[in-house]
Amino acid sequence: MSKNKRLLRPGSRLSLLENMLVEPYKTIWDCCCDHGLLGMSLLKRSRAGEVIFVDVLEEQMKKLEATLRRNCPLDEYSWNVHCGDVKDIVVPNSDSQLFIIAGVGARQTVEFINSLCSSAPRTPFDLLICSVHGNYAVRNALISNGYKLKGEQIIFENNRFYEGIYVSRSGHEDIVNTGSKMWDWSNSDHQQYWRRIVGHYRQKARKDPEQYQPIIANYEALLTSSCNI
Ligand SMILES: C[S@@+](CC[C@H](N)C(=O)[O-])C[C@H]1O[C@@H](n2cnc3c(N)ncnc32)[C@H](O)[C@@H]1O
Repeated sequence: MSKNKRLLRPGSRLSLLENMLVEPYKTIWDCCCDHGLLGMSLLKRSRAGEVIFVDVLEEQMKKLEATLRRNCPLDEYSWNVHCGDVKDIVVPNSDSQLFIIAGVGARQTVEFINSLCSSAPRTPFDLLICSVHGNYAVRNALISNGYKLKGEQIIFENNRFYEGIYVSRSGHEDIVNTGSKMWDWSNSDHQQYWRRIVGHYRQKARKDPEQYQPIIANYEALLTSSCNI
């Protein structure tokens, strides 16, 4: 990999997530980083003073460390590779920190949000989340941990929909569990995403209507103030 090669394909999920950030941070934690592409790109674009890469995969972390030594030499960049479980992170008492949790399922994403928050209840830090599904539960976890919305975006890649959710404790805009300003009802991809979500919960409601009907009602309510899809 050449030193200046673009790391993220424009329009890709990771590139869109990167572009959601509205401010640079002292420290960005790329949790569940795997190949570490997002964190590396943020480091190279000076979006963070330091990037800490975290993943449980020992071999992958050794490879990543070697790649970082070649492409982001420590006399030019500040980074750290940590092989371990995100649930074991104790958030340091420092300002200007962002934790990225991308590419894992909703159950794990919620566990990670809760464990990071309970490790340092009084330390403010921002989160950039992109779960592979189950954003309703993820958003409820963010709401119950006192987060406010900084930005949100629907991302379509390889026939899958994702939600990029960027949050902070210091904002003023409430997070809505169905998503709010990310929806563009004139966009056919967004209409398709809405249909997929509602279809998914309708299936679930056949077995457990008490749990899932209210969720369906919340998604259907999104349409009352917009066009009919
Ligand atoms: C699909 S990759 C996501 C890579 C990248 N973040 C992305 O969005 O493309 C998921 C990664 O999560 C890591 N992972 C799963 N559970 C973890 C945990 N408890 N702590 C740290 N990493 C974990 C896996 O080892 C894997 O490398």
